[in-house]
Amino acid sequence: MDNKVYVFDTTLRDGEQVPGCQLNTIEKIEVAKQLEKLGVDVIEAGFPISSPGDFNSVVEISKAVSNPTICALTRAVKKDIEVAADALKFAKRGRIHTGIGTSPYHIYQKLNSNPDEIIERAVAAVKYARQFVDDVEFYAEDAGRSENEYLARVVEAVIGAGATVVNIPDTTGYCLPSEYGAKIAYLVNNVPNVDKAILSTHCHNDLGMATANTLSGVINGARQVEVTLNGLGERAGNTALEEVVMAIKCHKDLDFKTDIDAKQIIKTSKLVSTLMRMPVQANKAIVGRNAFAHSSGIHQDGVLKNRETYEIIDPADVGVKESSIVLTARSGRAALKHRLQVLGYDLTTEKLDQVYKNFLVLADSKKDISDEDLEILVGHEKKEERVLKLDKFQVMCGKSCIPSATVTLNYNGKILTETATGDGPVDAAFSAIQKIVPIKVTLEEYLVQAVTRGSDDIGKVHVQLSENGRTVHGFGANVDILTASVWAYLDALSKLV
Ligand code: KIV
Ligand code: ZN
Repeated sequence: MDNKVYVFDTTLRDGEQVPGCQLNTIEKIEVAKQLEKLGVDVIEAGFPISSPGDFNSVVEISKAVSNPTICALTRAVKKDIEVAADALKFAKRGRIHTGIGTSPYHIYQKLNSNPDEIIERAVAAVKYARQFVDDVEFYAEDAGRSENEYLARVVEAVIGAGATVVNIPDTTGYCLPSEYGAKIAYLVNNVPNVDKAILSTHCHNDLGMATANTLSGVINGARQVEVTLNGLGERAGNTALEEVVMAIKCHKDLDFKTDIDAKQIIKTSKLVSTLMRMPVQANKAIVGRNAFAHSSGIHQDGVLKNRETYEIIDPADVGVKESSIVLTARSGRAALKHRLQVLGYDLTTEKLDQVYKNFLVLADSKKDISDEDLEILVGHEKKEERVLKLDKFQVMCGKSCIPSATVTLNYNGKILTETATGDGPVDAAFSAIQKIVPIKVTLEEYLVQAVTRGSDDIGKVHVQLSENGRTVHGFGANVDILTASVWAYLDALSKLV
């Protein structure tokens, strides 16, 4: 059996079904183009019959990308299949993904049918879809809770009808890894024509086992994985692309390969998170803010001696510049010394001991210690006040006006005012600040989070800026999200001026 595992990305279909994550067509094209750079084999671009917007997105994505196969979802219904085929008319390689439920819940309750009739409907849908495209994938919805013998009959029938890929979804995220793997193995061993199609995994994460189930499926013979970036998807989400790809990459012993360019993972994850307004949890595997951050003294010491002591992945391999050593009360001398060296301070042992003592006192009262705090501790920077302070600002925005902002800053004691326009009020305010402080910085990340729910809630803004390879973070919190944004930007910029 070939060891290439095809990566089928469904961020734009299963991921996009999440409330609040809907994208417009332009945003979907942006994600699709990045998925193409990432190297996915298939992009599931939407469910064309579900809305004119979804139809249009499938059309436009088909025009915008050329390498990946573009896939459109349907039910086992003629009209769905016709509409999907129409939406795929510009795709260089188009695939129709049709299917029906095969578990007792679906057969008897949802569809009010019986097992033989479901097979007839499945076969008819695949044959009909094959009249429009050569590549037809069939999904056996709720295969995770479907009986294996019956599932094998369904799979044999749809392959006989022309399915090129057969998807075995654990729709409710119910299976254990051993159970899901055994299901795939059962199909590999009991479906006579199984070699005529590729078996695909499609796992949901309701019990937190989506990645484990997917890998178990691959180990037992599946050669396509259906995944989303950041594990986005209904309820607890789908299998995370980054987790499966990196597990395959780290475990050379498994001897599988994908065509994913792992260095594009972080960029793609950030794009999806920003456009879908879905922050990634800090401790999320591979793409979380803390995935390569070391905070305990023992770990920091180990990583500084040899990265591999506590890291199985080189952060650079997934597009992260470097692992970070977060200075907290649990950090040891080695981490402090390293950070000070990065900042340009080579201290004698006595001076380092003194700074370390003061560092521990400060770290007990502060969550983490910034570079600026260290400078104060070392005694090179005694200023209580920032060089950059917000005096006042005003923004103008609305449906039919060009967003503009006027910002007044106290910059080294001088009061300076500038006005700028932008794509939105935040962009305008940042541009006005840039006019006052002409350092060429790049805005790497801008993240807004509400502390609790409600429009009168405090908004927290994180900003990441970079200048000549140096990266700084800024933070602001206010009930007014624009004020929080400006504060966060100035907080970061102050560290560069
Ligand atoms: O989870 C599922 O069963 C699905 C199918 C529509 C493929 O998303
Ligand atoms: Zn799904």
